[in-house]
Amino acid sequence: MRMYELIEKKKRGESLSHEEIHDMVMGFVEGEIPDYQMAAMLMAICFRGMTEEETFELTMEMEHSGDTMDLSAISGCKVDKHSTGGVGDKTTLIVAPLVAACGGKVAKMSGRGLGHTGGTIDKLESIPGFQTALTREEFFHAVETCGLSVIGQSGNLVPADKKIYALRDVTATVDCIPLIASSIMSKKLAAGSDAILLDVKTGSGAFMKSPKEAAILAELMVHIGTRAGRKMEAVISNMNIPLGNAVGNALEVKEAIEVLKGRGPKDLTEVCLALASRMLILCGCADEKESMQVVKNALKSGAALEKLKEMIRIQGGDPLVVEDPERLPSAAFRYTVRSKEKGYLTEMNAEGIGMASMILGAGRQCKTDVLDYGAGILLYKKCGDYVVPGDPLAEFFYSDESRKNPAEKRLLDSLSFDDMKPKGEPLIYSIIKNPLS
Ligand code: URA
Repeated sequence: MRMYELIEKKKRGESLSHEEIHDMVMGFVEGEIPDYQMAAMLMAICFRGMTEEETFELTMEMEHSGDTMDLSAISGCKVDKHSTGGVGDKTTLIVAPLVAACGGKVAKMSGRGLGHTGGTIDKLESIPGFQTALTREEFFHAVETCGLSVIGQSGNLVPADKKIYALRDVTATVDCIPLIASSIMSKKLAAGSDAILLDVKTGSGAFMKSPKEAAILAELMVHIGTRAGRKMEAVISNMNIPLGNAVGNALEVKEAIEVLKGRGPKDLTEVCLALASRMLILCGCADEKESMQVVKNALKSGAALEKLKEMIRIQGGDPLVVEDPERLPSAAFRYTVRSKEKGYLTEMNAEGIGMASMILGAGRQCKTDVLDYGAGILLYKKCGDYVVPGDPLAEFFYSDESRKNPAEKRLLDSLSFDDMKPKGEPLIYSIIKNPLS
């Protein structure tokens, strides 16, 4: 009866109290509130919104719905980074070693990919032997000795988000700012870092389609984290087109290694340097003036590449992939996608390219799908490049012939051409700082 009244209240656009949000979250986690009532509440929140106060309370209740990580046994300021998800986003594989090479501590829990977006854990698991399920002691030891460790989310971290997200996924209630903010922030707070950098993506491959919407989400999350006692900052970055040239697990690991060798794509390198530099400032390892130079030095000297190699070794993976990326899994077949058009490439819909990569076997349509780690796409052209019919646009990597034609159609449908050269877009739109700093 009480949940009925709460749904009614939110339907009228009224605010829920702290106690009401507590009862709703705990009642749902403990199975007393059925899915159909929670689904109705989520839809009411989509239409009526939540105040910042309600969103904060919802985040706190979700954070404390299960276990939380206490990282205080690891010395120094622990800094985390979260990307709201995108296509070709392998920034963690580059940024975490960069930060660790400059003295930061990165104790990170990451997720798996679903649909058109990739997940860091899948990318790391494409490295032969790499373990993403460490015990608490192994995780702490890795961070203390190497400065970084990336593991999968532990079993009972934020069970409220697991249940609510599963329901949002099937009730068209994912793209709602207070629900996204509470989902992301509850997990980041429960993961225990002292400082958190949010990389809020905007564009065709992201949840937030415009920089303005992304800034609203970013500000809300920065406020929530600051109020919860963490050092917070957010970067609004471009996800209109995939980041870098590689999409797919082992291909992205190879590209991350190339960036750390100083030979990676310019866009990806630039975004990673910016993210690492902001993380160093947040955790107090460098100040505004010196931070970018410190990060660039760690890239140039090879110190960050050494950190990646050390992390791979500590987590049971084959560290020789760093010197010889051909040791990573590869797909059975390759195919060059060629242009049928003439003109400038003006648009590359990131979501469509992510879907093409998923069709090739690099992603999951549903949670139980088995990944082909070698599958994916290498993009040979990006927005602003001029092409004529027959020019190679991309290379496909796949192990099942039946996947090639539907993936090629999906990729070509994602590209637009024109006689006019498109205007360049910024890689980073803005930085949202902690209001109290
Ligand atoms: N990522 C999350 O973890 N939760 C959301 O709601 C959206 C993106």
